[in-house]
Amino acid sequence: MNQAATMKHLLGIKGLTEAEIQSIFLTADNFKQVLNSPVKKTPALRDYTVANLFFENSTRTRVSFELAEKRLGADIVNFSSSTSSVKKGETLIDTVNNILSMKVDMVVMRHPAPGACLFLARHVNSQIVNAGDGTHEHPTQALLDAYSIREKLGDVAGKKVVIVGDILHSRVALSNIFCLQTLGAEVMVCGPRTLIPRYIAELGVKVEYDLAKALAWCDVANMLRIQLERQDIRYFPSLREYSMQYGLTMEILNRLDKEITIMHPGPINRGVEITSEVADSHQSIILQQVENGVAIRMAVIYLLAMRER
Ligand code: CP
Repeated sequence: MNQAATMKHLLGIKGLTEAEIQSIFLTADNFKQVLNSPVKKTPALRDYTVANLFFENSTRTRVSFELAEKRLGADIVNFSSSTSSVKKGETLIDTVNNILSMKVDMVVMRHPAPGACLFLARHVNSQIVNAGDGTHEHPTQALLDAYSIREKLGDVAGKKVVIVGDILHSRVALSNIFCLQTLGAEVMVCGPRTLIPRYIAELGVKVEYDLAKALAWCDVANMLRIQLERQDIRYFPSLREYSMQYGLTMEILNRLDKEITIMHPGPINRGVEITSEVADSHQSIILQQVENGVAIRMAVIYLLAMRER
């Protein structure tokens, strides 16, 4: 494995080249072999320390980064804002500089504020990996999503991917759009008019408000959760009504004249955006996405660390 990242941080997918994304995928292929071997570990980063700073709830991303770092042999420190001195008024920069002074090499951060990772990258002397910043970007999610499409369908280029649901509040949607387009896929967004931002067509994506038409067009449907925690007003009358218009059921899938691949970044709200029957069906690659997240995050951390050596 002799690739190295050209970027110092991973703050978003926007600005990454196709070559950089392919380099991450090739490195992840190697790490997937390691993960599938009996040992599951490599000592590649045994002299390296990563701090995971989570200022917002997470299950998949947090566990996945932690496992990726451990599988690389790195030392890790986990920080949760709810039990930290942030509660006593300490600033983000002071918090991170204090952690860095204990010989930490890299910071992985999830934060509710869009742009928080860019802000940190400008003000502290460390490599920063964005684990999701508000409604802005979630780059490693988009990388693992595209990697999972590549694994399932052989390639991302030329594939038609629809992202369904709460596009307005979704960092996953934005990072997926950038990543899929860079890799040569066609992207559509679908959802209620109130949850599709007006600027989205300027990004070169198709917009469709009818779920049946969107599914008839696509090879892959990425179903997003309604992000009630980021909604300050009502965007549709009720979850039941949202589900009746945009919830994916087996009945809808069976009406198509082809078999499409179903994705979801998690957490799933079963019975709202997707039924249990669809989520657990053979068309769903939801758990493969989660599995691939570890190899992708190992690749990102490894490539960034190699750049500094
Ligand atoms: N997909 C994702 O970011 O999930 P978590 O919020 O559980 O990390």
